[in-house]
Amino acid sequence: MSGRLDGQVALVTGAARGQGRAHCVRLASEGADIVAVDLAGPLPAGVPYESATPDDLAETGRLVEAAGARVITAQADVRDLAAMTAIADDAVATLGRLTTVVANAGICIPVVWNETSGELFDDVLSINVRGVWNTVMATAQHVIDAGGGSIILISSYAGKKVQPFMVPYTTSKHAVTGMTRAFAAELGQHNVRVNSVHPGGVATPMGGGDMVTELERTGATNPKLNAMGTTFTAQTWAEPEEIAAVVAFLASDESKFMTAEHLSVDGGSQYF
Ligand SMILES: NC(=O)c1ccc[n+]([C@@H]2O[C@H](COP(=O)([O-])OP(=O)(O)OC[C@H]3O[C@@H](n4cnc5c(N)ncnc54)[C@H](O)[C@@H]3O)[C@@H](O)[C@H]2O)c1
Repeated sequence: MSGRLDGQVALVTGAARGQGRAHCVRLASEGADIVAVDLAGPLPAGVPYESATPDDLAETGRLVEAAGARVITAQADVRDLAAMTAIADDAVATLGRLTTVVANAGICIPVVWNETSGELFDDVLSINVRGVWNTVMATAQHVIDAGGGSIILISSYAGKKVQPFMVPYTTSKHAVTGMTRAFAAELGQHNVRVNSVHPGGVATPMGGGDMVTELERTGATNPKLNAMGTTFTAQTWAEPEEIAAVVAFLASDESKFMTAEHLSVDGGSQYF
């Protein structure tokens, strides 16, 4: 059966679980082969939810294979440009090409502005911004070599609007929005499109552990701000598969004249 993404090879970061796993499975189900990359290990101190494990990453690999695609799983840190480059190079040697990139790995730490340490700020920026830049730098030449393709950067509602009690996260996700436009400008001549996706709340392990407690604790310091992020719709949060559907659209030729665009999947909360 022919799929919308037949012939594509997609590298997805943060692939062990949550949205990254959903992107892998969705792209695979539409015909793409998958390079699934994840730290699959301890996240920085201050992250209030559980870390992903090598078993989680292996499970993503199994699900991709069950969808009928070839898969490479790789345990690596997006902060490590050399490691990301080696993974991308090896993937092209094994799978033949790289056409699609989903820079999805990220962390989120609720913290009040005057409790934020320099180390915490650096931890968030190094993964959410430098890690995204590393992912593009390790892969873009391969996408050019394939004759063009689609690079999708996962930002957030917080990449368009303030997510209160998250100065580092909001800063990092706005940076991803700017990075999307900057790469789109230079890579456009090579038929490489670069767009960002901006989810509102999504039901993933990022929202588990002590995340809700931390959101309540920080929110109590200035309750007026807690209404930010309210949706217009009756639906208040998304399943990961709803974000993956938009990623698959951006990977496909159905969006082939779209670049430097920032697609929200947030029930309208960017305008609330
Ligand atoms: N869950 C939400 O409500 C929400 C909303 C908007 C945007 N986002 C963004 O969506 C993306 C995916 O988040 P999720 O909800 O699936 O979270 P998640 O925590 O379930 O999954 C994130 C994955 O990224 C991996 N990761 C983290 N740091 C890494 C590193 N340095 N190197 C490699 N892998 C690393 C983790 O191990 C994990 O498997 C993130 O960029 C996040 O900021 C999430």
